[in-house]
Amino acid sequence: MTNHLPAVVIDNGTGYTKFGYSGNNDPQFIIPTSIAVRDSVGQAGSARGQTVTGNLASKRGIEDLDFFIGDEAVANAKTYSVHNPVRHGQVENWDLMEKFHQACLFQYLRCEPEDHHFLLTEPPLNAPENREYTAEIMFESFGVKGLYIAVQAVLALAASWTSGKGDQTLTGTVIDSGDGVTHVIPVAEGYVIGSSIKHIPIAGRDITYFVQQLLRERENSIPPEETMEVARRIKEMYSYVCPDIVREFRKYDVDPATWFKRHEFVHSVTKKPYHVDIGFERFLGPEIFFNPEIASSDFLTPLPEVVDGVIQSCPIDTRRGLYKNIVLSGGSTMYKDFGKRLQRDIKRFTDDRLRASETLAQHNLKMANSQDQVKAGQLEVKVVSHKKQRYAVWFGGSLLADTAEFYNCCHTKAQYEEYGPSIARYNKVFGSML
Ligand SMILES: Nc1ncnc2c1ncn2[C@@H]1O[C@H](COP(=O)(O)OP(=O)(O)OP(=O)(O)O)[C@@H](O)[C@H]1O
Ligand SMILES: [Mg+2]
Repeated sequence: MTNHLPAVVIDNGTGYTKFGYSGNNDPQFIIPTSIAVRDSVGQAGSARGQTVTGNLASKRGIEDLDFFIGDEAVANAKTYSVHNPVRHGQVENWDLMEKFHQACLFQYLRCEPEDHHFLLTEPPLNAPENREYTAEIMFESFGVKGLYIAVQAVLALAASWTSGKGDQTLTGTVIDSGDGVTHVIPVAEGYVIGSSIKHIPIAGRDITYFVQQLLRERENSIPPEETMEVARRIKEMYSYVCPDIVREFRKYDVDPATWFKRHEFVHSVTKKPYHVDIGFERFLGPEIFFNPEIASSDFLTPLPEVVDGVIQSCPIDTRRGLYKNIVLSGGSTMYKDFGKRLQRDIKRFTDDRLRASETLAQHNLKMANSQDQVKAGQLEVKVVSHKKQRYAVWFGGSLLADTAEFYNCCHTKAQYEEYGPSIARYNKVFGSML
């Protein structure tokens, strides 16, 4: 293992791409997953999805360099058209994704892909063809030495080991909430229990929209073109999860000086400062995870109920481990007290069920004229917050790609050349690496 260069670890999210070398604590780069191209290129769309035979490396010409990624893409929105190749966690435009990778590797990381093994991440239930497209890009266009495509949830579980609060287990329920999607994923000994996974259409972007809407109703000092960015920053800087919204409103009434905040923003073009008063959106934003009806009528199940339902739908012998290790991952789990509220609310479901079964058992005993008392065993519910939560998927990848076993689990260039992209359909499970 020692004669390998560090692996390149890339986590392409809907909102942000995190990438860097394995063995590091943090990604070297965190950039928006955005690419700005000339109009004709963006509209050409993706050849992948209809055919897997196109070799894009051969199409490279000088015009291929006329694009920007990340913050530069956002900054060039006036003259170029900006695209997000990933939507709701899934790659939608493979040609743009390839260009995006090209810039990540050559302009940002400045690495020689031929010298490195790569760890890429995928959302749960990713279609096997998507793995083939990824392999095609990595092996054919960049000539990488080896490739492993890891499930984001499994990496997030590995990242939680740093919390020191649990065992080093690959059994747990991962709540991964980023910008475009929130997944609840049960994992037992490194294997995702696919049939029980649930997606929730509420994530960071929805909370930003909701905060933007609340601000729009009240604050007219914000320049219209900046409302979205202001809402995102307020959300990230001032939001928290409260135990009870009714009482929280009262706190603001009784002691406004403590709870209301004021933030000075600077206009991105004119550089003129302006003030924004920040109030109830501080706790109402993330409240939509717990009371979704306050923002929309499309999806009404609170996150704690979804988590409880997911675990209840798993095989009975896995449930104890799944309740005991509920792991948070992604930017939209960063709200203060998010884990605390989640734990309390999930515990209410399990306690209610316990009480109901005790009552039922007691009733049955009474019918049988027995004097025995029934006391069911307590069920431990633990939500694990930890320091690496923000970039948990990337960090888990960095940890695992730094082990000797990683290199045994990778698909190699030689295998790709011999068998083709279909080798990427299946990956060895990382559990064997521990
Ligand atoms: N401190 C914070 N508090 C609340 N939200 C935050 C914080 N920091 C980042 N976010 C939000 O987290 C989201 C980005 O998270 P992340 O990088 O995990 O998503 P992603 O991987 O790009 O998306 P996905 O996993 O949905 O494909 C954004 O909506 C951002 O506003
Ligand atoms: Mg993500």
